[in-house]
Amino acid sequence: MISYRSGFWVVVALLPLVSACHRTQAVQRGYRGQNSVELYSEKTLAQEDEINKLVKPLRAASTTGPTAAESYENVQVLGDLSKQQFARTMLSIKSWVAPNEGCGYCHNAPDYASDVKYTKRVAREMLRMTRHINTDWTAHVAATGVTCYTCHRGQPVPAKTWYSAPDREVDGESVRRGAVRLPTYAAGNTVLPVTALDDYLLHDDNVRVAGPTALQGGNRHSVYQARDTYGLMMVMSESLGVNCTFCHYTPAFYNWDTSTPQRAVAWYGIRMVRDLNNTVMVPLTHELPAERLGPTGDVPKIYCATCHRGANKPLYGVPMIKDYPELVRPPTPAAAPTLTSTPVAAPALTSATVAPPPAGSPPAGS
Ligand code: HEC
Ligand code: HEC
Ligand code: HEC
Ligand code: HEC
Repeated sequence: MISYRSGFWVVVALLPLVSACHRTQAVQRGYRGQNSVELYSEKTLAQEDEINKLVKPLRAASTTGPTAAESYENVQVLGDLSKQQFARTMLSIKSWVAPNEGCGYCHNAPDYASDVKYTKRVAREMLRMTRHINTDWTAHVAATGVTCYTCHRGQPVPAKTWYSAPDREVDGESVRRGAVRLPTYAAGNTVLPVTALDDYLLHDDNVRVAGPTALQGGNRHSVYQARDTYGLMMVMSESLGVNCTFCHYTPAFYNWDTSTPQRAVAWYGIRMVRDLNNTVMVPLTHELPAERLGPTGDVPKIYCATCHRGANKPLYGVPMIKDYPELVRPPTPAAAPTLTSTPVAAPALTSATVAPPPAGSPPAGS
């Protein structure tokens, strides 16, 4: 039998363990004098290490010789690659997306040209999307870029996606799951409205809520809008594993002058995610089987955590396209008289070219 006394010593012996679980690191953020501090839990950091393990890149392939378009029957996206680069890309895709399932996850061997499997048709759009991100969204992904692994991490279905909330707000109140408001992931595990992701990462509702005047007069923003904005901000913070201070000087959330440079990167991130959801994911609704769709019949969609997985830079910022030039769209060749095939026009860019509001600009709507 354990006496009261030995029980006491067991507790004392366990104390360092308990406190180790809750150890945090404080990191100074923002400009000097702002006293902005980020807190990181060591336990969470250790869990992140597990998710952020890398796949060793394959040896670079020769760029010479016949192209994939010349060598194969049905190559619509990667036609510009050499045959070796194409083979290297297929091998890499297998290890990034379907390491256990193998080539057969997308291919109906021995007929590799066949498109009967929906997974192959989806993978082709994913190839287009990955090249689009690495070519047109460098305002967000910089020279680091992404591969299929950034989102898939060795699984056919990425772990972090979202569906539209089944119940909309009625009279400003969330009626999801009856009268009880439960914390949802769509609101960063808070009881904030569940519609923030629809509003801001699918539709282009205005995130900014700070009124231009203190009094009601010129201020068209409401507390309800502010709740939605806070919902999105919670989701963004959680996706990146950071506090609000990572981007904002908290006494003045709206102010771009006192915000960190990361806030501008995040501004592009919001526009990039909207673009990907609208131009890639939504059009895949008819390709994905019913069991992949959400409660309202919608496609799984992308948000910050799909790539970031709790890290401020996905995979801790390890450069991806340095080792995978195959995943950048080649420049559209100028129409030269010697060209036989018609060059494919680059997809029209809408949002990527719009700059974030200049520092110190007044809030939108003023
Ligand atoms: C995640 C899906 C996926 C996996 C896994 C995959 N492929 Fe592919 N494969 C594709 C897509 C998509 C294309 C068409 C690319 C395009 O249109 O540019 C393709 C095209 C091909 C082609 C060209 C066929 C033709 O004649 O048009 C070959 C050969 C090929 N893959 C071989 C492989 C091999 C070998 C493996 C395993 C090491 C593999 N693939 C794994 C998606 C995949
Ligand atoms: C920005 C994130 C992102 C990137 C990058 C990405 N994917 Fe995906 N992929 C998704 C999402 C989201 C889905 C939908 C998941 C679902 O069905 O639940 C998906 C679905 C798929 C599927 C269908 C899986 C199934 O079983 O239904 C295939 C195959 C696929 N991706 C291949 C690829 C390939 C190949 C690449 C790289 C060329 C790639 N993906 C890059 C986000 C991404
Ligand atoms: C990764 C960067 C980032 C993090 C972390 C972040 N924000 Fe933001 N926040 C932004 C960006 C970017 C905007 C402007 C978005 C736009 O204009 O589309 C913004 C806008 C806002 C606004 C509206 C400001 C205005 O002008 O009306 C508020 C309020 C806000 N954030 C609060 C928060 C809170 C609270 C947190 C922590 C829970 C947080 N933010 C975390 C980047 C961030
Ligand atoms: C397609 C994948 C992808 C998605 C989705 C994505 N990001 Fe990123 N993000 C990246 C990559 C890659 C980098 C690294 C860029 C670099 O090395 O400078 C990055 C960098 C950042 C940074 C700079 C971090 C730093 O330490 O300097 C911020 C802030 C950020 N992302 C916020 C967001 C927010 C907010 C969202 C969602 C609205 C988002 N990202 C969605 C891929 C993504």
